[in-house]
Amino acid sequence: MLGAPGSGKGTQAELLARTLGVPAISTGEMLRQAVSAGTELGDRVKGTMAAGALVDDDLMSEVVRDRLERGDARRGFLLDGYPRTTAQAATLDELLLGRGKPLSAVILLDVPEPVLVRRAVARRRDDDQESVVLERLRLYREKTEPLVQHYANRSILKRIDGDREVAEVTASILQALRG
Ligand code: AP5
Repeated sequence: MLGAPGSGKGTQAELLARTLGVPAISTGEMLRQAVSAGTELGDRVKGTMAAGALVDDDLMSEVVRDRLERGDARRGFLLDGYPRTTAQAATLDELLLGRGKPLSAVILLDVPEPVLVRRAVARRRDDDQESVVLERLRLYREKTEPLVQHYANRSILKRIDGDREVAEVTASILQALRG
């Protein structure tokens, strides 16, 4: 799942995972759990997340590698919030090469910027103050948006209008995955 902060990646990943019978793996959620549990990982990423910055690529590789090794991901998975940089995309390719199963689809949720900010600020998560949301958006444009072209070039990008009712968005994604 690719998309700006607040585009609905987490919401859609959870719904799709239930329908498709594969786990939704959200790197943001994993990091938030680590922070609230006070683990070593949580302590390392807490400040970065609060500032709306990106966690170091190498650390994220370790987190995702460990998660994909768990049994429930053997038959497939949905990734929400990873990869987010070109370096992470390269790491994911390597990890999947080892499994003999390349990435089958990348869903891009397209939502206009004013809607993104409105959704995030209304939610009130710790990193949802307007200034932090704007920094997350700036980093998305700079570091993550180049992945849109990267996956379009590989013909696996599915662009979905995410500014609709949640159920309508889910239906469009499922249709795109089947088509
Ligand atoms: P992460 O949790 O991934 O945050 P994000 O990408 O900024 O995304 P959000 O969770 O804000 O939005 P979303 O697109 O999932 O939308 P959601 O469904 O929640 O990452 C958090 C932080 O962790 C990062 O800033 C970074 O520090 C770190 N991190 C994580 N992964 C990393 C990585 N790979 N590399 C480096 N650092 C990493 O919806 C948002 C709101 O909108 C909700 O209230 C929802 O109810 C509502 N909503 C959803 N869909 C709709 C709809 N169709 N209509 C109306 N409202 C809707």
